[in-house]
Amino acid sequence: MNKNFNWYKYNAKYYDQIDADGIPYDAIADTLTKIFRKNNVKTIVDLGCGTGNFYIPLAKQGFDLLGIDISADMLKIAKRKIIKNKLKPNLILSDIRDVITEKFDAAICLYNVIGDINYHDFSIVIKNMIDSIKSDGIICFDVINFENVKTFEFDNKYFIEKEFKSDKLHRLSRRTKQKLNKQDQTLEINQSVIIDGKLDKNTSNNKMYLYTLDQVTKLIESFGLRTKLMYGSYDNKHGIVSFKNNDPIIGVIAQKI
Ligand SMILES: C[S@@+](CC[C@H](N)C(=O)[O-])C[C@H]1O[C@@H](n2cnc3c(N)ncnc32)[C@H](O)[C@@H]1O
Repeated sequence: MNKNFNWYKYNAKYYDQIDADGIPYDAIADTLTKIFRKNNVKTIVDLGCGTGNFYIPLAKQGFDLLGIDISADMLKIAKRKIIKNKLKPNLILSDIRDVITEKFDAAICLYNVIGDINYHDFSIVIKNMIDSIKSDGIICFDVINFENVKTFEFDNKYFIEKEFKSDKLHRLSRRTKQKLNKQDQTLEINQSVIIDGKLDKNTSNNKMYLYTLDQVTKLIESFGLRTKLMYGSYDNKHGIVSFKNNDPIIGVIAQKI
């Protein structure tokens, strides 16, 4: 029987090869490291740490991290990678909408974790991040910019994504169908992997929440955060690139005051 899976249940094992492909995690972590060092950050909570792509380069820089994720499948991969890098896996399976009891110097929630979270819960996550850090602590989060996404055509028809870097054993691609709901600012995504040219009969479904600059700005203001930097894209040279209207990402680095 063909099955329709929750997105991370289905995609965790492909995540690093497909979704994280081309994201300059090390360069972004270097930029964050400079900001963290200037602000005496030593401990970081990584909300939605996934497979550890920010956890690992930041732990290598000497920060103490706690990674939180709701997906046991993603955490299993994170643990394996962290140990392989000779670092200490400090990971918990939890929902980032729940209160975080420990205190940290910084809280990060990066690479569209908030895409899995509706506007009401977005505000809860930001509150949890703020409550989990000391005063003067730093919070970093990003969302996908609705204003950017709505400029693309979404015909709800299947298309085949480009082939992703081989893991040496298999060639991976993906069949994807996307539907944009402008009213509720969500993107419905249906995907199946194509392994060595063969389409998997199972599929995954996801609803991605998109946000506007106005919504993000209102949240920052309502929590009285001091914005240090807003970014709109990534590159290998700078890690993060300053925000310009309609950029794909709305990234925020802010300080609790
Ligand atoms: C797009 S991935 C990003 C992972 C990682 N930060 C990275 O940069 O590669 C989003 C992650 O957020 C996690 N996530 C989504 N909703 C969550 C929630 N309510 N509580 C905890 N983790 C959540 C997912 O399981 C997934 O691992």
